[in-house]
Amino acid sequence: MFEAATLSHDNKPETYRELGQMLEALLQGESDAIANAANMSALIFTSLPDLNWAGFYFLKSPDELVLGPFQGKPACVRIQVGRGVCGTSVAKRSTMLVEDVHAFPGHIACDAASRSELVVPLIKGGKVLGVLDLDAPIPARFDADDQAGMERLVEIFLAASEI
Ligand code: SME
Repeated sequence: MFEAATLSHDNKPETYRELGQMLEALLQGESDAIANAANMSALIFTSLPDLNWAGFYFLKSPDELVLGPFQGKPACVRIQVGRGVCGTSVAKRSTMLVEDVHAFPGHIACDAASRSELVVPLIKGGKVLGVLDLDAPIPARFDADDQAGMERLVEIFLAASEI
């Protein structure tokens, strides 16, 4: 049984260091990408404050993302590469840190409560395989520490999972 550990929220790098250890323990010995994505979404969503959505989209064809495991309200199922924050992350092969989603041209509003967003591409063996998407109900929820922390969590996910 998974027991939610108490994370220190004194500083973000320390929080993400602890979260990384928790994720490594959670994924240890398991390579199923869907199971690992589901548990990673739940770990992030239940451990960090001020999130209204946390989950995955996977690139099922060269030009389309499809919804994967997540926590939060039901979301848009398919996103074209190049569209929205998620599709832009795939097209640019880079993390998107959006302080105000209302100011992002083409933002796709799955949950009207979302005000800021962080999207990290899943890149393994040089190929983009999908994205990790985080939504927050407050503007500028994410900063460079969140970006570095989430990119590290994605590395742990990709190393553990057959994807
Ligand atoms: N806002 C995202 C769509 C996915 S939802 O936030 C879960 C986007 O613009 O790509």
